[in-house]
Formats: sequence, structure tokens, C-alpha cells
Amino acid sequence: MFNLELSRAGRPDSKIRIHGTDAFEGMRRAGQLTARVLDLLVAEVRPGITTQSLDDFVFEYAMDHGAIPAPLNYRGFTKSICTSLNHVVCHGIPGARVLKEGDILNVDVTLILDGWHGDSSRMYPIGKIARAAERLIAVTYESLMRGVAAVKPGNHIGDIGAAIQAYVEPERCSVVRDFCGHGIGQVFHDRPNILHYGRPGEGIEMRPGMLFTIEPMINLGKPQVKIKSDGWTAVTRDRSLSAQFEHTVGVTESGADIFTTSPAGLHHPPYET
Ligand code: MF3
Ligand code: CO
Ligand code: CO
Repeated sequence: MFNLELSRAGRPDSKIRIHGTDAFEGMRRAGQLTARVLDLLVAEVRPGITTQSLDDFVFEYAMDHGAIPAPLNYRGFTKSICTSLNHVVCHGIPGARVLKEGDILNVDVTLILDGWHGDSSRMYPIGKIARAAERLIAVTYESLMRGVAAVKPGNHIGDIGAAIQAYVEPERCSVVRDFCGHGIGQVFHDRPNILHYGRPGEGIEMRPGMLFTIEPMINLGKPQVKIKSDGWTAVTRDRSLSAQFEHTVGVTESGADIFTTSPAGLHHPPYET
């Protein structure tokens, strides 16, 4: 999501919603539906197919399971998913582009089931990819999980970004600043912003019942991005490769509930199926 901290919009942090057991159950169902379609995409993503075919696949899957793709008609977005290829950081628009050996693709799916939003993304290598691309993907996944590990009542939101940044930068990769994770639930994008950089202790304190995403975008080069003329597609300014993974989580009494964990164990590439 756009970094609302930089634009000073949204509801005050004092109004962050605390959810109960029913919400957690709804979020788990929505999150698992999203995770299942990301699992199924492993068999769909291959050289020679278009990113539009992946959009069609997820749309059909949503319709067959009583769900709605949240991106469809969201703020003028016309597709069901985001497909972000190579130097595309996020919000890539599915279309006629044909996948080819060596590409790396992020597919970001948000399904609404019974009003609850499950938002998750993973990286998909197309055939054999460069060692540098493999390393970027591994660093990005590990950064997400280090962010998740910082989720605990009494910890601060800033601890998440601090954990991600402290791991990523010594790996000679950079953290994108212009987009962030977000509160979620019965709305797609809510307070608080979850920055993927920062210092420990910054921001609000986490409390049981909070729901949000963590979705670090990590670049092999510099962190700066620009938006293409379609108004959505964010790319690295230096055209370096970018990767992202995303989970939707809830804060529990002891840590994090990850709603979007892969039921098939396809957490990150290589996806051995
Ligand atoms: N799923 C993205 C996120 O993680 C948001 C996509 S909004 C869209 O927040 F309109 F581009 F689809
Ligand atoms: Co998100
Ligand atoms: Co998403």
C-alpha cells in the first residue's frame, strides 16, 4: 500500500480497531483461501503464458469459492490481482506480457470472503533464474519472516520495520520506502501503516486483536521507485530487480497468527511439487 505516513492521511492511530475471535476466524478463512490460490498458481506460472491468464485463473477461483477479488475496481484498478515482474516493485497490471525463462514474478492476491480480506503475495521464478535473483528472493522472504517474528503485544510497530531493515541492508539490498503494510479486516487498507524500515520502539504499541499486513518490497539496487504513466505500476528507478512477499497477520496474546500460511507448504521458491 502507498506509504500513508508520507502523505499524512488516514485515521488517527488511537482509533486502531481491536478485533475478537469471530474476526480471527473470518480472517483465517479468507487468508487460507488466498493462500490456496497462491499454491495453485505454482502450476500455472511457466514460460509462454501471459500475466492476464493468471488474472483469469484467480478471478475464476474467487467466483467458484464465493469470494471477491479486492483489487477489482479498487480506486480504478481494473484487474483481480497484481503481477509485478522483474524491476516492477508492486501494483503491476496483468496483461499481454508473456512470461519467459529467467523472469521473476510477484503475484499479489487479496480475496474477500464473507467480508474479511486475506492479502498475500509470493515470488514465482520462471524456469531457471540468475543467482542474484535467487538471493534477492531468499533475502526478501527471510525479511518478511523476521518482521512477523517482531509481532507481539507490547512490542511497537516500529520493531517490525527495524527487524526487516537491520537484516536486509547488511545483505546489500535496499528497503522500498514509498509503500508499506497496512491495517486490514473488513476494509482493505486501514490504519496503522506498517513501515518496513525504522527504529525499534517507534510507532504505536501492538495489542492483541490488531490485524495488519507485512509486505516488504526489497531491491537489489537503490530503494527509489517511480510510477509509470498507467498510474499504478511502480518500478525501481535504477531498473534493478525487486522482490516482495506478503502475509496478513493478527496479534495474539503471545505473538502473531499468520492467516495466509501456505496449506501445501509452498512458502517460498524453489517450489518442489
Ligand atoms: N494487494 C496490494 C496490497 O498488498 C494492494 C493492491 S491495490 C490494487 O496492499 F489496486 F493495486 F490492486
Ligand atoms: Co497488502
Ligand atoms: Co497485497
